[in-house]
Amino acid sequence: MRRSLKVAVASAATLAVLGPIGWFWQASRVPATYDMAEMGYADFGGGPASGHHHASGGTSVASLTSPSGVAPDVAVTLTARRDGSRYTLNGQTPGPVIHAVRGQLVQVTLVNANVPDGVTLHWHGVDVPNAEDGVAGVTQDAIGPGRSFVYRFVVPDAGTYWYHSHQVSDAQVRGGLFGALVVSGDAVASDVDQVLAVHTFDGRRTLNGVPGVSSLSAAPGRVVRARLINTDSGPLRAWVSGVSSFRVAAVDGRAVVGPSDISAKSVLVTAGGRVDLLFAAPGRVDVGAGAALASAGLAAGVQPPATLDLLTYGTPAPLGFDPAAATRNFDYRIGRRIGFLDGKPGLWWTINGHEFPDVPMFMVSTGDIVRMTISNSSGEVHPMHLHGHHAVVLSRNGAAATGSPWWFDSLDVGDGDTYVIAFVADNPGIWVDHCHNLKHAADGLIAHLAYTDVTTPYRVGGPSHNRLS
Ligand code: C2O
Ligand code: CU
Repeated sequence: MRRSLKVAVASAATLAVLGPIGWFWQASRVPATYDMAEMGYADFGGGPASGHHHASGGTSVASLTSPSGVAPDVAVTLTARRDGSRYTLNGQTPGPVIHAVRGQLVQVTLVNANVPDGVTLHWHGVDVPNAEDGVAGVTQDAIGPGRSFVYRFVVPDAGTYWYHSHQVSDAQVRGGLFGALVVSGDAVASDVDQVLAVHTFDGRRTLNGVPGVSSLSAAPGRVVRARLINTDSGPLRAWVSGVSSFRVAAVDGRAVVGPSDISAKSVLVTAGGRVDLLFAAPGRVDVGAGAALASAGLAAGVQPPATLDLLTYGTPAPLGFDPAAATRNFDYRIGRRIGFLDGKPGLWWTINGHEFPDVPMFMVSTGDIVRMTISNSSGEVHPMHLHGHHAVVLSRNGAAATGSPWWFDSLDVGDGDTYVIAFVADNPGIWVDHCHNLKHAADGLIAHLAYTDVTTPYRVGGPSHNRLS
């Protein structure tokens, strides 16, 4: 073959290979600015498609606020600062614990002192009105340096919650831009109430920012409520030693019905999730990597290999709705494949076989009973978190839930697992439904639950450089 012909054949072959790749690359590029509601495709879950307005008409997210003109019961100002890879709120990390009583109106003024990428606050687990949800690019614009934003919401349910930035959240939460929110007023009785926000800073696991063992001051026999909050991106296992038994009093801000005594078991706390443990002092709660809360002189017990299964823990109680009467049925199938995400080659997450941003928009109407089947064949665990709603677990891998209603906002979905969950669509808005391994969310494991008549004036990207996760 003549040299020029060889070259021609070679380049034709190259083109045949690279041409489609180039097309996939091009097709994967995410526009610099876009309306989340215009991306991907609507999935109506077998329900009516009517009333799905795009950019025009309908209710704006921005109007879904708490009543104005009412004085707040709790008012807090939080000033966010960045110092290298560290982030603080009012000069500390975690930020101050916010305390409120169920039904109170909480007002938080977020001030951005110097965070270049901008900040927001999301009230993880609190079913707030949509405009207060803190998702940059969907429910508000990121708050740039020198600016501030006021959040106002009623805390409808007692329990353990947390707040964190939802702008460039992987870096900001990892760097410390978070804090605990405790809403009192449930029926769980205790003498000592202890928040335990678990976070790994630069490879060191901490409790409320403190590595190693923190001391528990509770007289013998006093009942301790330890509110574990997993603010990391992976699951943690906690265990209690020095006691004959303990209980799980609440999960994700919902009291467990009829919790029985537990011994020789660890408790899994999914990323973003909360578990409230109840035990009589003296005792010791370990969360791994040497971080613990302990009564004086109590050494670490061995971590029990068995893990408590919430599918069968506690006693059944009415859900308040009938999942069998579901009006929408969705699949949230998590996979992984080689491809391009925004022009970058890699192994990317898929949702129902689609890669971000070509992912489903789960469409509902107010009052719908929603069933969702979440399955994971991606090779890794995903802590799935739906904003604005609490859902209940109906089954895992075909085994029905038989314990207390397992309400959650953050669910550890292991590789190979399938959960059927249900909830009532009772909080209009556009809500993120994503993996709380925040790196995974940033890599596209993020979808939305959207009410058919709700639109958003906010844009991902744009002048505020809003980032979805
Ligand atoms: Cu705690 Cu969308 O996050
Ligand atoms: Cu994930």
